[in-house]
Amino acid sequence: MDSSLKGWLTKASREGFAIGAFNAVNLEMVKGIVAAAQITQSPLIIEASQGEIEYFGFRNFLSVVKNLSSETGLPIFTNLDHGKEIENVKKAIELGFDMVHFDGSDLGFEENLRASLQMVELAHQKGVLIEVEFEKIQGVSEKQEETAEEVLAKGELTDPDKAAGLLTQVKADILAVSIGNLHGVYRTAEEIDLLRLRRLAELLPCLMSLHGGSGINQEQLKEAIGLGIVKINVNTDLRIAYRQTLENVLKGSDAVKVYQLMPPVIASIQKVVEEKIKLFGSEGKAVEIERL
Ligand code: 13P
Repeated sequence: MDSSLKGWLTKASREGFAIGAFNAVNLEMVKGIVAAAQITQSPLIIEASQGEIEYFGFRNFLSVVKNLSSETGLPIFTNLDHGKEIENVKKAIELGFDMVHFDGSDLGFEENLRASLQMVELAHQKGVLIEVEFEKIQGVSEKQEETAEEVLAKGELTDPDKAAGLLTQVKADILAVSIGNLHGVYRTAEEIDLLRLRRLAELLPCLMSLHGGSGINQEQLKEAIGLGIVKINVNTDLRIAYRQTLENVLKGSDAVKVYQLMPPVIASIQKVVEEKIKLFGSEGKAVEIERL
């Protein structure tokens, strides 16, 4: 099998599972995610969005992920999530990220199209996988007071016919689809438009990712994987676990040894990632490859 990320996503598409893309902003988060990959023997992607990578540092992110994952020998890949600035996307491509997500959804359609074409060419010249986004996926990765329906009404869903035409032209590897999914966790669960997804799967010449992996109806999520979603992004659930665990650790304690405060936080990240991996069906997939 082709052991690149493209090979893994193609395998996921063929076998009906999805690869989790987990956001990480520091050492504890990467440690928790890598530990989950190890215990479940699963392939996964570790990603950082623009704000996260600016905090972490491009090179720090790459070397921390590589250092920690090399000990496992597992297929762990890197992604720049929602790269909105061209310079940042270029930088990630130059530095050797396995994939980049160019997010031009805040631009006008024509400008997004132009920039996406340019970024796809650049990424492919360097052998880097690229995801694009046209209909902006709404919401932010936080716990929100609104209902999912209220936030969804602010944006547009991906039109299958239009997207198929667009992706034939743009030739990106992955499209971030807007089918009812939202960034963040809401008062009501996000409902996926499965009929729309089915049509997208029939028409699109590329793979599909599902953003907003926190707060989605779980049964629907499994159906969405069966219909061709191969990459699922998860952030809010990790952020919530991190914060809640840290608060609990600090409550009633005046301990100051950071290396003793952080292991429960790392374990909470690991737990969330393990649960997602099981839901996405990628558990044990890395072992199968070793046996080939
Ligand atoms: P959630 O914060 O809803 O998990 O979404 C994360 C995401 O899609 C990152 O791109």
